[in-house]
Amino acid sequence: MRLDKLLSECGLASRTEAKSAARLGKITVNGKVMTKTDVQVDPERDSVVYGGLPVRYRRFVYLMLNKPDGYVSATEDGRGEPVVTDLLPPEYRKMGVFPCGRLDKHTLGLMLITNDGVLSHQLLAPKSHVSKSYGFRVKFPLSSSDLAQLERGVDIGGYLTKPCRVEMTSEREGVITVTEGKYHQIKLMMEAVHNQITYLERLRFGTLALDASLARGEWRELSEEEIGSLQQIRKGIEPET
Ligand code: URA
Repeated sequence: MRLDKLLSECGLASRTEAKSAARLGKITVNGKVMTKTDVQVDPERDSVVYGGLPVRYRRFVYLMLNKPDGYVSATEDGRGEPVVTDLLPPEYRKMGVFPCGRLDKHTLGLMLITNDGVLSHQLLAPKSHVSKSYGFRVKFPLSSSDLAQLERGVDIGGYLTKPCRVEMTSEREGVITVTEGKYHQIKLMMEAVHNQITYLERLRFGTLALDASLARGEWRELSEEEIGSLQQIRKGIEPET
């Protein structure tokens, strides 16, 4: 791989920035100063140092964000609203990360952010049946008949939702687990039983659980284990959670 491509894929420098850094002698490969960036390097074997810091090559990054209120699930917003990737350091944005799926502007909680388009596509594909759990609060108490209807499936704008699970923790609060991801699904499901969501937070996405130590707006990289379990879905097997 070309040296300038390596630095840009790592989110460290654009090709132009890499070129001027090289001219200033700020890049070494295996201890040797590189004055040009159109040279080939082996990202796995060569030891590349940029501005005094070793470069760790990673094609893909996987981040967990605890989405705060008011952020749009996008990498940019035409109306100038804050977007979830604004919460990340610029290196990740330069690596081309994007949110895997959407949460509404006022929905909180677990969001996977990655630049792995294939994995993201597979996690979101309806045939993968990746489960999502949401903590919710509604305006009015849910009756046992409401719960039965929600679990069986309700009509949301002409679409009949698939069977799901609802566990109540009080008469207006609970956790709902669905295996699909229709637009505004949970809000519309509650409206279908004449109720209204007043609070919604994603707690799980497939095998991934929201890290309770992350405050709203905080993020961390996924562990190797978490990445591995998501990648099982790529192979068509969702491991037991
Ligand atoms: N369902 C909704 O209604 N909103 C979300 O953000 C996610 C699921």
